[in-house]
Amino acid sequence: MIPVMRPWLGREEAEAVAATVASGWIAQGPRVQEFEAAFAAAIGTPHAVAVSSCTTALHLALIAAGIGPDDEVIVPSLSFIATANAVRYVGAQPVFADVDLVTQNLVPETVRPWLTGRTRAVILVDQAGVPADLAAMRALCDPLQVTVIEDAACAAGSSYRGRPVGAGAVLAAFSFHPRKLLTTGEGGMITTGDEAIAARLRRLREHGMDVSAADRHRSRQPVIEHYTEVGFNYRMTDIQAAIGLVQLRKLAPMVARRRLLARRYTELLSSIQGLVTAGDPPYGETNYQSFWVLLPEESAVSRDELMRLLAESGVSARRGIMAAHLEPAYADTRTSLPVTERLARHSLILPLFHEMTEAQQDHVVSVMTSALMSAAPGMPVR
Ligand SMILES: Cc1ncc(COP(=O)(O)O)c(C=O)c1O
Repeated sequence: MIPVMRPWLGREEAEAVAATVASGWIAQGPRVQEFEAAFAAAIGTPHAVAVSSCTTALHLALIAAGIGPDDEVIVPSLSFIATANAVRYVGAQPVFADVDLVTQNLVPETVRPWLTGRTRAVILVDQAGVPADLAAMRALCDPLQVTVIEDAACAAGSSYRGRPVGAGAVLAAFSFHPRKLLTTGEGGMITTGDEAIAARLRRLREHGMDVSAADRHRSRQPVIEHYTEVGFNYRMTDIQAAIGLVQLRKLAPMVARRRLLARRYTELLSSIQGLVTAGDPPYGETNYQSFWVLLPEESAVSRDELMRLLAESGVSARRGIMAAHLEPAYADTRTSLPVTERLARHSLILPLFHEMTEAQQDHVVSVMTSALMSAAPGMPVR
């Protein structure tokens, strides 16, 4: 079976883990600190705070932005459900806005109609790695004191107006789940330019403690810690950070390889008329975290049937990005989002991973082409 994604892991990661275990310090410690510094440098942001996942990163980012009960936060429904769930964690109300069909991201035109006196934040997702237009969203939101939090879960290695995604955000959250390019198994990172916010995030991820466990351990004198507010255990381990340090060094070649394979997909699939494929927006470059395709509106083959045909031919595809507002957990917020609904029902994600061969890619393309072309024999599918 050709997997939809396979992380690019090797001996270097294994050796880094072995060295961490041998050091005797496996919980959050020196390697987490080193990973944070390296990640901040790679993004070009002053501070990076490592956490256990992007979900927990979003939770803490919302707390740091001062979001709480009675507040509204505008989010795309077209996102992994964690984006909306994080809003609920702080007791606020997620308000779903539609997305742009080409980038699959929120844009000012889709957000503006949902702004109210209770709107306190917008979570701007760089969906599938495609950078969202942060400056355009901030131009709308900053004058209204609405904080734009960037959900860059998928976007480590993508660029926006010549800088790494996340660099221009007040708060940005990243994921290191294995479906992303850079993985630590589970893991996340929050980046920010604000030193006081970074210090608070470090306390919040560790039970609200004013001295980290690692610092207490290093001290030659007994240190009595204090708990300044109710916090969480959202720590990353040194084992994860050791993997992350190796993976971060491999991020550039990962992006280059994915972009090459994505270009090849785009060319090979261009014979299918009306098929829309993931690509760069005019203002940035995607890391192609997911290579999604949107079926033509009049396609005779449904997305689910196509996925079944692909599976029968040894290709593991996935449905496109989900729509949270269509899920039972959000039944109370039901609204009509036409672009989101079309994308959620008619798009799928094709296999793309660092070690994918051209032969594997040719196989995926041939199954796609014959399925979509044979729907109306002799006729291109429009
Ligand atoms: C846009 C988006 N936000 C948040 C998350 C949650 O990330 P994690 O699995 O690291 O909690 C994901 C994961 O797929 C995602 O795609």
